[in-house]
This record gives sequence, structure tokens and C-alpha cells, in this order.
Amino acid sequence: MKTATASAPSNIAFIKYWGAIDLDQVRPANASISMTLSECRSLTTVTFEPEVTSADEIALRDESGRPTTLSDAFRRGIERHLARIRERHQLVGRFSVITQNNFPAQAGLASSASGFAALAVAASSAANLEVDDIELSHLARISGSGSASRSVLGGFVEWPAGEDDASGYAKVLAPAEHWPLSDVIAIVETAGKEVSSRDGHRRAPSSPHFATRQALLPDRLDRVRAAIQERNLDDLGSVLELEAIELHLIAMSSQPAIFYWKPATLEVLAAVRRLRREGLSAWATMDAGANVHVICPSAQEAKVAEALAQVPGVLQVLRDRVGNGPQWHTDALP
Ligand code: DP6
Repeated sequence: MKTATASAPSNIAFIKYWGAIDLDQVRPANASISMTLSECRSLTTVTFEPEVTSADEIALRDESGRPTTLSDAFRRGIERHLARIRERHQLVGRFSVITQNNFPAQAGLASSASGFAALAVAASSAANLEVDDIELSHLARISGSGSASRSVLGGFVEWPAGEDDASGYAKVLAPAEHWPLSDVIAIVETAGKEVSSRDGHRRAPSSPHFATRQALLPDRLDRVRAAIQERNLDDLGSVLELEAIELHLIAMSSQPAIFYWKPATLEVLAAVRRLRREGLSAWATMDAGANVHVICPSAQEAKVAEALAQVPGVLQVLRDRVGNGPQWHTDALP
């Protein structure tokens, strides 16, 4: 029996994964590029008991470490991930999992990327699997949360389109030290999203704009790769804002339509344009939700956070920045 504890961060996509060739095998319709964060993390302790065949145990802690109830969907997601890890590595044994996010549950931030990345890292160590970054990214991907495949790596990360299972892992484009960028997150909604990313991926091809975006993406991906290499935030920023708007354009024009934005989302977008007119380099992106992530140079993080806190409808502002990916912890979660 072995216990391992690891944490993994969330990530924010500059080029979004939206739409899949095969949702069950998590083969995305397009490549995505993200920045791994540093502060918003999931911490997970996993124990593996070889040969024991009774059901896995899963426990959730709130951000202050108190036991809290897990939803059926959350439990099923973890059970499915553990079953897939067992199947992929022909393991026989039982996992016990305790997991906790360090960001407030009521912040309305998705935790699946960080949660499943931390689970892949801790579970593979507890089961004594010899895994490299490629296999870790595969293991995180097959959780069903494709963006988790990017959270096992630090810095600026690309996950390619899903040609086949073998190529379904993410790789580092540049390490965190390459470019000190921050992600200032304006929380405008605390409830979980009404339509899951999974349903969003499923519906995306029904939008008349989906095919157009797919055709535009190769050029856009090149621009983002180049902007990262050259540390050109004006170029990166204009592409990442367009990407975020298009994700939501596709969501809103899918059948049935999905509306993630709240009125305050538009207030924050206007505030970000104002900040640019005032000379700051701040650029907005959103995932499948109403909250707005504002990417800026870390030297401008405090000013951007202060400005966003004043925007009507903003409930809370979180400050995060590019980070190095998963970490090991010596203390197991009690
Ligand atoms: C909009 O299927 O990875 O965040 O399981 O909720 O993390 P979760 O979603 P997933 O889709 C991510 C969709 C996205 C864009 C992105 O992160 O690439």
C-alpha cells in the first residue's frame, strides 16, 4: 500500500478546446493553447492498495479542509477516471482519494482541469506507475476533462487536435520563466454553469460558425505560438479576445443555444477596453462561464485587479499568474 499527495494548478486557454471529434475518447476538434496558473490549485492524496477489489473511496474537503459532500456527478467523474487509469495500466487494486481545492468553491471557477490533473499525478505515483510527462498528460486527458491534459505541465502549453489516441497529449511551448504574465479573474457569477463543457462540445458543431472557426484556427494557432515566443502581448491579446468571443458566439448559436454571459461580463469587457485606452496591456478571455480572466504583464497585475474590483457586478477578484505545474507534497490530507 502506498500513499502520494500532489497538487496541480488550473489553466486558462488562449486558444480554446471547443468541440470534439470523439468526446468519449477526448479527441478534440482543434488544438488548444493555454497558460498554466500558479495559485488556483487542487490538492489530492491518493492511496493505492494492490489486489484489494472493493470499491474505491472518494472524499472531498472544502477549501478550509473540512469534509464536505460531493455531488453524484463529481463522484462518477472520479470513479470513471480511476477505472480508466486501472484499465490503461492493467492494475488490480483499490484507490482511496481525498481532494481539496484551495480556491473558494463559491468563486464559480471550474476545478476539473486542476482536479483531474492532480488525481492523475497522485494516483500514478500511489500505484507505482512509471510515467513521464507524456503519459501523465494522457492519463489526465482520459478523465474526460480534456483541459486537464494541459494542467500536468507548467508554463505555456499546447494540446494538439485529436488525430489518434497516441498523439493525445500536451507539450510545453515555453516554460513559466519565459514570460511573467498574470491572470486577474473577475468573478461575476458564483453558481456552477447551467450547461457543462461536455454538452457545449457536443453542441458546438451545430453552430453555423463552427466550420468557419475551424478554418481560421491554423493561422490563429501560428500567431499565438509566435506571440508567445516573441513575448508580444498586443498580438497575443488581440487573438485571445477574439477566441473567447468566438467560443461564446458558437455557444450562443448552437442548437440548443447556450448563454454563459451575465450582464456584468459585458461590464468587465468594457472595463478591460478602458484599461487599454489608459495605456495598460490587459486582454480578456472567458471559458464556458460568465467570469472574465484578464491577461496582463505581472507588473500591471495590481493595477488591473484594483480597477476590476470597482466594476459594477464584480463580486470578487482573484489574482493568479503563470506557474510551473504539479507539485509534490509531503503531508497527506487528513
Ligand atoms: C471552455 O472538457 O476540458 O474551458 O472538464 O469543464 O474542464 P472541463 O472542460 P473541458 O473543456 C474546456 C473548455 C474550455 C476551453 C479550454 O479550456 O480549452
